[in-house]
Amino acid sequence: RQGVRRALPTADHLLISDIDNTLIGDPAGLATLMEWLREHPRVAFGVATGRNLRQTMEILAEHQVPRPDICITDVGTRIIYGSKLREDQDWAAHLHYRWWREGVLQALAKIPGLRLQEKFTQSAFKVSYYVDPKRPPTAKDLQHRLRERQIAAHVVLSHNRFLDVLPIRASKGHAIRFLAFRWGLPLRAVLTAGDSGNDADMMGGEICGVIVGNHSPELHGLRDKHHIYFASAHHAWGILEGIQHYRFPGQAHA
Ligand code: GLC
Ligand code: MG
Repeated sequence: RQGVRRALPTADHLLISDIDNTLIGDPAGLATLMEWLREHPRVAFGVATGRNLRQTMEILAEHQVPRPDICITDVGTRIIYGSKLREDQDWAAHLHYRWWREGVLQALAKIPGLRLQEKFTQSAFKVSYYVDPKRPPTAKDLQHRLRERQIAAHVVLSHNRFLDVLPIRASKGHAIRFLAFRWGLPLRAVLTAGDSGNDADMMGGEICGVIVGNHSPELHGLRDKHHIYFASAHHAWGILEGIQHYRFPGQAHA
């Protein structure tokens, strides 16, 4: 079951899905999507998740998902390839720009409604907090505190519960654009699927975005955006609905 499904350089389309509440959540939908991927060898398959690599491998194994061609983990701050889990070092090098992890921790240390997540969720380019939904800090306040320390960071809220602070160049969407460029795939050959805040920037522009029916409210703002399809079906069935909507993959892109 494990192993590279297909060599990334030979694929001419890319399907990238969030894991929790998008890819995973409905076993029959997931099995149908996996079958679809087997029938479409031109489509490389990736996941993009807030989980770290170990947690990613665990949940995929638990649900018998074959190892993806690409794993974008830690909310876009790591790109890992193939069955040998090779890290894209160039991506890591790219993220150092104006990143100061210690400064982020200091700047956001004493904010009511913010509490650091467990140690295993933290990584070199990701500082993650729990948000108290009763008194969530405003994005403006957070940005202000970061800017006071000359930190340019990307602040992402998901499910009104998780807050991730990432290097300014990091996000799931930035990672996908980097990949497409690196592997010579036009963005119109990429389909992404997600359900919550950290998925928002994987969508839109030329990328074909699919938001599954069971999405969280923070994505409502994307409703009128071009190239973002709100599926009615939930979880992996929603991804399949999106695939149909876009008639993905279309023509081969030479
Ligand atoms: C996952 C990660 C967590 C992160 C959240 C939202 O749950 O474990 O650290 O905050 O995704 O991106
Ligand atoms: Mg999710």
